[in-house]
Amino acid sequence: MNKPKNSLPPSYFEQMYRKNSDPWDFETSDYEAQKYQTTIKALPKTHYHNALEIGGSIGVLTALLAPYCDSLLSIDVSQTAQQQAIARCKDLSQVRFEIAQVPQVYPDEMFDLTLLSEVGYYLNWDDLKKTQRLIIEHLHVGGHLLLVHWTLFAKDYPLTGDEVHNFFGQLTGTHLKHLHGLRREQYRLDLFERV
Ligand SMILES: C[S@@+](CC[C@H](N)C(=O)[O-])C[C@H]1O[C@@H](n2cnc3c(N)ncnc32)[C@H](O)[C@@H]1O
Repeated sequence: MNKPKNSLPPSYFEQMYRKNSDPWDFETSDYEAQKYQTTIKALPKTHYHNALEIGGSIGVLTALLAPYCDSLLSIDVSQTAQQQAIARCKDLSQVRFEIAQVPQVYPDEMFDLTLLSEVGYYLNWDDLKKTQRLIIEHLHVGGHLLLVHWTLFAKDYPLTGDEVHNFFGQLTGTHLKHLHGLRREQYRLDLFERV
């Protein structure tokens, strides 16, 4: 089956959020709630100085991650989604928001935690390679990279969750050390440390 060759554009997500404010049921799904708990529990530290969340969406995971961070920058391509995230996190003063499409725009900061949860498979290979390079360049040595992706097949997505995780796994031994991995029926989580 032919998969799209281009990364999915911001308009794909913006239109989706305009039709349905929570298209993946992040607020209500037990599956998402359990995955979020597993995601947060996978963090080896309870305190990060400056964290980046790529594809923060409507901010459900953002709000769970924020208590672990002195500063958390959440980026997304969709204004409609991010407006909801801003409202949800209004009492979490450590959370900052920016509209940014990776890899075309990447924050000019260094992070000690980068979270890529359910975003990598929307990119094509070229954009994933650029994003990987930017993530590595902007992660402090000793900093953590947490990947979480759904692993079933979606014909609309340029890549699969496994392709995304395996691609980062190739940096094990050079730029990254693999600290922890788990696979559930529908998703996969991998935690790396920048070396
Ligand atoms: C499925 S949601 C994931 C939300 C959240 N990270 C989670 O795990 O629940 C994917 C989000 O990534 C955003 N996104 C897609 N491509 C992106 C890109 N190239 N740069 C930044 N955000 C992107 C979408 O707008 C969407 O809100």
